[in-house]
Amino acid sequence: MNKREIKTAKLTVDGDTYQLPIVVGTEGEMAIDISTLRSRTGLITLDPGYANTGSCKSSITYMDGENGILRYRGIPIEQLAEHSTFRETAYLLINGELPTKQQLDQFSARLNDHSLIHEDMRYFFQNFPRLAHPMGILSSMVNALRAFYPEIPERSEEEEINITFSRLISKVRTMAAISYRISRGHKVVYPRHDLSYCANFLNMMFDTPVKPYQIDEDIVAALNVFWILHADHEQNCSTAAVRLVGSAKVNLYAAISAGICALWGPLHGGANQAVIEMLQHIYENGGDPVPFIKKAKDKNDPFRLMGFGHRVYKTYDPRVKIMKKMCIKTLKKLNIKDPLVDVAERLEETALKDPYFIDHHLYPNVDFYSGIFLRAIGIPIKMFTVMFAIGRLPGWISQWKESVDDPQWKLHRPRQVYIGKTKRDYIPIEQRKE
Ligand code: ACO
Repeated sequence: MNKREIKTAKLTVDGDTYQLPIVVGTEGEMAIDISTLRSRTGLITLDPGYANTGSCKSSITYMDGENGILRYRGIPIEQLAEHSTFRETAYLLINGELPTKQQLDQFSARLNDHSLIHEDMRYFFQNFPRLAHPMGILSSMVNALRAFYPEIPERSEEEEINITFSRLISKVRTMAAISYRISRGHKVVYPRHDLSYCANFLNMMFDTPVKPYQIDEDIVAALNVFWILHADHEQNCSTAAVRLVGSAKVNLYAAISAGICALWGPLHGGANQAVIEMLQHIYENGGDPVPFIKKAKDKNDPFRLMGFGHRVYKTYDPRVKIMKKMCIKTLKKLNIKDPLVDVAERLEETALKDPYFIDHHLYPNVDFYSGIFLRAIGIPIKMFTVMFAIGRLPGWISQWKESVDDPQWKLHRPRQVYIGKTKRDYIPIEQRKE
C-alpha cells in the first residue's frame, strides 16, 4: 500500500483497540496523531529528548536526515548558498516567498532604520565583567530590548510585529559587534546605511580610527553563506525553546533570548567553539586523531568528537560540504595556512572509516569546519556561537511567527511519568533519624 494511503494506526490496550489518525506531510513524512490519546485511553506517550515526537506541523524547513537534504521553504540549501544573500534568505524564511526587488529594498531599508541601539544600552555592555561570555551578554541584551522598545498601542499588530522582526535582525548584529569592541576596550563603531548587512557587521567589528577596515567582497560573500547555512534547521533545541517559551505568550524578545541560551550549550550551537578547542588540543598533542577517536568510543570516557553526530542527520550533513568548500576558499583568499584544517581532515577521514562511527551513523555536522572559517576572518573563539545566533535569528523568528499564527496553537506543556515516592507523611524535624 502507498504510504500516503495509510489513514489510521491501530493501538490495542488491554484488549480495546483505538484508531489514531495519521498525518502525512507534503514530502510523505507520516506521524500518528496522539492528541486525543490521553482523553480516550488515560495513557500518555513517553519519549525522552522528543526524538520521536513531532511538536508541530511546519511549512518552513524540510530536512531529510537519511538522505542529507535541507530546504528552506522548498528551496535547496545548495541553491540558496550559491545564489542568495543572508538578508534575502531571512525574508524568505519569515515571509514564505523570495522577495521581489521592491520588497527586498523595503526590507533592507527597515533593517537600516533599526540598526542603531538605544544609547543607554551601551552602559549595560560596559558593565558586564570583561570575561563574561558573549552568549550570556547577548541573551541578556536581547531580553532587555523589550524594556527599551515597548509596544506602541497606536501601531497595528502587524506593523508592530514587522518592526520587531527588523529590529531584532538588525540590532542583534550591532549588539554582537558592540560587545566585541567593548570587550577589547575599543571604540564602538556605528552601523552605516551604505553597507550591506554582512559588510556592516564586519565593519563594526574591525574598523579602527587608525586603520579603516577594507571591505573585501569575497569575505562578505563567504559570511553571507555562513549565515545562510545557519538560518534555520526546523525543530532543533533552540528553536524548540523559542516555540516553548513563546507558547506562554511571552514577548518575542524573551522567547528569542531563551533560544540564545539554548544555543549556547556545547551539544548544540556551542559545539562550534568546542570543535576548535578540540582541534587545537589534538594539534598541540601531535595531531594524531587516533587516540581521540579511541577516547570518543570509550563508554567510560565522557569525551565525544565535537562537531560529529546529529539527532536527525544519519548521513553527511549537507551544510558541511558547502561550509568546508567555503572555508578552504576563504583561507586561500586570505593566504592563511591553518594547521587545524589538516587536523580536521585527518580526523574526519579516520572517523568515517571507523566501524563505531559507521555503525552509529556519525558524520561531521555544520560546526565541524565553521570555526576554522570564523577564525580565519578574525572572529574570536568566544564569539563563535554568537555568530551562529545571528544566523539562526530569522529561523527563530519565522518559527515563532508560525506558532502564534497556528490555529491549533496550544501552551506547550509536556507530561511526565512520575517515578518518585508514593504518598507518605511529613515527619517533624525532631523525630527524623540522623
Ligand atoms: N562522539 C562519539 N560518540 C557519539 C557522538 C560523538 N560526537 N555522538 C553520538 N555518539 C554516540 C553516543 O555515545 C551513542 O552511542 P551508544 O548508542 O553506543 O550509547 C550514540 O552515538 C547516540 O548518541 P546520542 O547522544 O543518543 O544521540 P543524539 O541524537 O541524542 O545526539 C548529538 C546528537 C547531541 C549532536 C551528539 O551526536 C553529540 O553529542 N555530538 C557532539 C556535539 C555536537 O557536535 N553538537 C552539535 C550538533 S549540530 C547543532 O546542534 C548545531
